[in-house]
Amino acid sequence: MKKIISIAAVGALLLTLAGCAGGSTSGDSASGPKPVDQLVVGFAQVGAESGWRTANTTNIQDSFKEAGIELKFSDAQQKQENQIKAIRSYIQQKVDVIAFSPVVETGWDAVLNEAKAANIPVVLTDRAVDSQDDSLYESFLGSDFVEEGKKAGQWVVDSYKDSTTPVNIIQLEGTTGAAPAIDRAEGFADAIGSDAKFKIVASQTGDFTRAGGKQVTEALLKSNPDVNLIYAHNDDMALGAIEAIEAAGKKPGVDIKIVSVDAVKDGMQALADGKINYIVECSPLLGQQLVDIVKQINDGKTPEKRIITEETTFDQAQAVTALPTRQY
Ligand code: AHR
Repeated sequence: MKKIISIAAVGALLLTLAGCAGGSTSGDSASGPKPVDQLVVGFAQVGAESGWRTANTTNIQDSFKEAGIELKFSDAQQKQENQIKAIRSYIQQKVDVIAFSPVVETGWDAVLNEAKAANIPVVLTDRAVDSQDDSLYESFLGSDFVEEGKKAGQWVVDSYKDSTTPVNIIQLEGTTGAAPAIDRAEGFADAIGSDAKFKIVASQTGDFTRAGGKQVTEALLKSNPDVNLIYAHNDDMALGAIEAIEAAGKKPGVDIKIVSVDAVKDGMQALADGKINYIVECSPLLGQQLVDIVKQINDGKTPEKRIITEETTFDQAQAVTALPTRQY
């Protein structure tokens, strides 16, 4: 009898150890998938800095509601420490999946290791982390920001191919340290290359906000009166720049050309009106794909590690055509 009890005890111990082993898992194979309406997902959003972000938040909340999955949502107000706090709270609450869009690229390993130790899978949406250990997240869903920067730069190269006069550029950068700010600068620089005609005379952050774009442009136009092109890392900063250019008595889109990224409705309207000259699309509609990834994880499947959003570009005529049915 004693022997039977000790065999049973060893068996139970082995089962427990097996349950605790490993890092982040794709589904809980011991208990099988949960019914979808019992899943709880924690989402740590960057903030509400731009029209893009607002559309992204709405789309994610709507998609989870439609799927019947509970979504716990937090807004980090563009502060990494707030996002880390939110992720730790989701770990404590033992949610099934954590998703987040990192404010900046660096400094995530500690909290992601905590999620891994708690066996909670993490999905990155929109922005990347620069961690060397890609086992810290299941999947990264979002745009190729380097490619977006290249498309903006290529438009500049094509637009000025017959011009011999210098193109003096102000770059309005996104949030310092954020993946889209780093990558869009890199892609743009790559595309304009070493042609001496193109000169980035000033490059400063406007934090992806309209107010930031306006303030920085106001100041930079004073110190660089010969600027003839603005490259804005998002539409909101381009819209702020338009206000600053008009206040300086110049015509946006004519005296100073503008190329930006996002293609939110307000940006597209400015493009249709001729105040912005070209927009590279960055889609915020990531909600349904995120729901699909959460379901795959719940089913014990391995989602694709990198899912790149499909995007296009718009000139003025294309903006006029697209505007009536634009979703965001
Ligand atoms: O990470 C995506 C970027 O963040 C968008 O281009 C910008 O508008 C937002 O704030």
